[in-house]
Amino acid sequence: MKTFGIAILGCGTVGSGVAKILLDMGSVLSERSARPIELRKIVDLSPKKSSEKNNIPLDLFCGGGKDLTPDEASGYISEIISDKDVDLVVETIGGTGDYLFSVILDAMKAKKHVVTANKAMLAERGSAIYQTAQENGVTLGYEASVCGAVPIIKAIREGFTGDEVQEISGIMNGTSNYILSKMELEGTDFKSALKMAQKAGYAEADPTLDISGGDAGHKLAILIRLAFGKEIEYKNLRKEGIQDIEREDIELANEMDCSIKLICYARKVEGRIAASVKPMMVKRNNLLSKVHGATNCVEVINKYSGRHYFMGAGAGGPETASSIVADIVFTARYGTVVDNSTPLRQLELVDADQFEFPYNITFSTADRPGVTGLVTTAIGAQKINIDTVSHNRHNRKEAVFSVATMPCTMQQIKDAVATIRKDSPELLTEEPKAIPILQ
Ligand code: HSE
Repeated sequence: MKTFGIAILGCGTVGSGVAKILLDMGSVLSERSARPIELRKIVDLSPKKSSEKNNIPLDLFCGGGKDLTPDEASGYISEIISDKDVDLVVETIGGTGDYLFSVILDAMKAKKHVVTANKAMLAERGSAIYQTAQENGVTLGYEASVCGAVPIIKAIREGFTGDEVQEISGIMNGTSNYILSKMELEGTDFKSALKMAQKAGYAEADPTLDISGGDAGHKLAILIRLAFGKEIEYKNLRKEGIQDIEREDIELANEMDCSIKLICYARKVEGRIAASVKPMMVKRNNLLSKVHGATNCVEVINKYSGRHYFMGAGAGGPETASSIVADIVFTARYGTVVDNSTPLRQLELVDADQFEFPYNITFSTADRPGVTGLVTTAIGAQKINIDTVSHNRHNRKEAVFSVATMPCTMQQIKDAVATIRKDSPELLTEEPKAIPILQ
């Protein structure tokens, strides 16, 4: 059978991982593909650096091994797109720019399959990409775009086609989870933990995407499309990150037998999709609370088959590369058997805050008699049922305590806080922090 030719665009952390696996496992991968597969070309701006760092033969790089200008690189990319010996293009450049967007579309129009880890591109500009793949009868492989090596796309797309996904909740950003785990288990401060995550190759080129919830939001948007058939406007997805989480929040969560995790959440409720990315307190009897480091874990709840967990390496070069290679092998073997045309539905996207959750609200207050009573009275007046009130910490010039509630909405909490501010303007020394509790 004809050799299946592959080209890699961008040979950084993930792209070089793909090259290495293809070179290391070549004959086994060809067996699994039931046809010879061959890495034919790599385009990268700094071939020598990448070749030396990753032990990839220099002659695989376009341009004879010399550093390329962006114009030269784009010339080689055009050659690849029209090269009949290239069947599949791996896109590991990253970003959402117009140039890369047209490279992906042009490759598909030239009947090349495309495999990518580019969650930002799919979440923000994916519609035309899915459509172009379908129109041109080529496969778009994007397993690596969500949760690195964890095969969550295949699980939902193939494994659950006989069921209906009702809820997804999960840890989908390795960097944030790594930072929160370091803070919780080792007392590391936020900045040092972030540096360690960057050094380990988990963080995005721009790590603000990781800690602001943006990267997790990209992944959730992709899963919402796949699982619920809802193509969302990414900007309309509510995203909060971990940048405001302090040691004190983690300690208070600990006292309540919870861990703080950055949770991607989406649930189908009466024709609507309630979704958000935000830090949540996760009860210790929930598996997600025990997921530490850069590990990702996604819980999927289905109508007929119930609860499932998918856990594994969610970030890192070789880990993400292994997912890309899986898509390459699958495409080489089955061609366009996989149709990515998820039937789309008219569903409204709403902020998960509009629905009820139990919350933990931390109050920093003036340290004087009657304060706890004033706060809990204001909460009760909003018909919020209180579950627990923690002890007061008198560790600064103020008293800090938290109130755990039974399920209520964020609006009820905001109204309670507004009442406290109105009735006792000097009482709150900081904005109260309300974190939903995932049971
Ligand atoms: N920066 C991402 C993370 C890598 O930390 O999860 C995988 O998308």
